[in-house]
Amino acid sequence: MAFTVAIDGPAAAGKGTISKAVAAAFGFAHLDTGLLYRAVGARHLLGEDPLQAAKSLTADDLAGPNLRTADVAQAASKVAVLPDVRSALVDFQQAFARRDAGAVLDGRDIGTVICPDAEAKLFVTASAEIRAERRFNELCANGQTTDYKTVLADVKERDRRDSERATAPLKPADDAIIIDTSELDIEAAIKAAIDAISVIRDAK
Ligand code: CDP
Repeated sequence: MAFTVAIDGPAAAGKGTISKAVAAAFGFAHLDTGLLYRAVGARHLLGEDPLQAAKSLTADDLAGPNLRTADVAQAASKVAVLPDVRSALVDFQQAFARRDAGAVLDGRDIGTVICPDAEAKLFVTASAEIRAERRFNELCANGQTTDYKTVLADVKERDRRDSERATAPLKPADDAIIIDTSELDIEAAIKAAIDAISVIRDAK
């Protein structure tokens, strides 16, 4: 039976880690929708028209080695403003969401636009400073050279662009459960998400 979990939130809030853990706990498939925009952004950085890139994305694009860099993150949030690019990616995300075995999708507009009928909707957030600290540690662990101030500025700039765009802006769905992970370690954040989804699932 299809069961869709929508997990939205701002940059580096912990959506990815939580989504993977939720998918593993319930045996659901997981789609990191940010990767779609990162893959389009990466191809645009190489000179391609963003809409053409969005229309012709392949599995290989999503496995690209450099999708987690700060430059690609910025390019992703710029192409993500374009309504045609967003439209080109809708069908794939919606088909993934309704697969029989259940699905977790994380992104910015899953609960509001892509899957407004999702059975469970979470909005995962944390203060910009905490998110920047986590992203800084992650980038350093991946061998990238950066500093905390640059990462904080990048996170704030993407938050602003993602929240202020006209099409599918970043915001919690009216019926989303908010999980603020500022004061939670990752185990506690995962538990909060799994507990919230279990309550909804058991009530079905
Ligand atoms: O990992 P992080 O939270 O930093 O970013 P991401 O989820 O990989 O998303 C990268 C960028 O793609 C975001 O800043 C958004 O601009 C865009 N995005 C979007 O517009 N809609 C989505 N469903 C997912 C990502």
